[in-house]
Amino acid sequence: MMRRNVLNKVALLLLCALAGVTGCSKDPDIFGSDVITEDVAFIVPRGWPAPVYNFQNNTLSNAGFELGRKLFYDTRLSRDNSTSCGSCHQAFAAFAHLDHNVSHGIENRLGTRNSPPLFNLNWHPSFFWDGGVNHIESQPINPIQNPVEMDETLQNVVAKVRNDAVYRNMFRNAFGDETVNSQRIFKAMAQFMGMMVSANAKYDKYVRGEPGGAMTPSELSGLQIFRAKCESCHKEPLFSDFSFRNNGLPTTSVNDSGRAHITRDAADLYKFKVASLRNLKYSYPYMHDGRFTTLSQVLDYYTSSNHNAAPIDTAIGTTGIPLSEQDKVDLLSFLNTLNDEAFVKDKRFHEIQ
Ligand code: HEC
Ligand code: HEC
Repeated sequence: MMRRNVLNKVALLLLCALAGVTGCSKDPDIFGSDVITEDVAFIVPRGWPAPVYNFQNNTLSNAGFELGRKLFYDTRLSRDNSTSCGSCHQAFAAFAHLDHNVSHGIENRLGTRNSPPLFNLNWHPSFFWDGGVNHIESQPINPIQNPVEMDETLQNVVAKVRNDAVYRNMFRNAFGDETVNSQRIFKAMAQFMGMMVSANAKYDKYVRGEPGGAMTPSELSGLQIFRAKCESCHKEPLFSDFSFRNNGLPTTSVNDSGRAHITRDAADLYKFKVASLRNLKYSYPYMHDGRFTTLSQVLDYYTSSNHNAAPIDTAIGTTGIPLSEQDKVDLLSFLNTLNDEAFVKDKRFHEIQ
């Protein structure tokens, strides 16, 4: 019965959002508790495009969401029971890995890429810096099996979860019976991760004309500069068009080929998925390998002409993006309006202590 209610609510909210009906939009509250007291509902923020994934074939429910949360924070998903998804995707870092340039997996094994922040995933047509995975429900296979991340087999994960009576009960609540299989594990995790919507930054309030959205002259000037010089890739309101572009970053000893690693097409050399610019305050360091610690370094890079050997995107050009010192100050103030404190503090997404 509860699941039916949730379904109706989700369907209604989706309809509202897609139709752009203003009266339907509900400002998501900051939940003060990690106990889920009201039905979880996926709300498409007003004015946003339709998501790629909207829980079709994966009925959203409180029980499914809570199961997904438990799995996300469970270190038993790794071979030596040391590392959970939440180890590299930390709530207070907008689900990136704070202060780590490249990922640290079990036994301190190092990866070559920076943990991206996790939010608004339902709008991503593909995942990872190179778009190597294209479905949110199959995405967790990769970190679980990756030798430098969790280094575990799906079979073992399923066995560990199945052996736990608390889990079996949660599977019954979420899916109607106690069957534990990888498909259900991934569906529950998709419910948890897909619910992570970040749409309550000052910028969002400004766009929606809500209280708290008044921008300063510097922020407004930054928005103008942003729209002229960054928007063609970092498209509003998600601040990414999710395309793969070569923004010119000089190669390092790792020589990460980016999108070309997947397509094997030389034309995709050094192209990476355009990163969202939301929540940058929490998710440093920046870029696919975490090479920049501060946003000033990022802007200094964009104005430089120090580039890799592949053709740089024409939206940047070989001489870099011209920005005056004042432009940089204003851009930084604008980027600061994209930090969504309500999202990082939303206890629904935190580990239950
Ligand atoms: C050892 C650190 C580590 C662990 C553990 C880890 N991740 Fe990640 N995660 C990363 C890195 C690094 C990337 C980027 C990989 C790439 O681009 O090749 C990533 C990428 C992702 C993405 C894609 C985000 C995007 O913007 O494309 C999602 C979703 C994700 N992880 C979820 C999970 C889940 C779910 C788990 C647990 C099953 C998990 N991660 C475990 C480090 C980690
Ligand atoms: C040609 C498309 C393009 C343009 C124009 C562009 N960017 Fe980017 N941006 C990217 C790509 C692609 C990445 C990811 C690159 C990587 O990690 O290798 C990125 C990454 C970033 C990051 C790092 C985000 C993170 O979480 O790691 C910031 C910050 C950033 N861009 C800011 C800007 C600003 C500010 C402008 C305008 C001055 C701008 N970008 C213009 C394509 C672009």
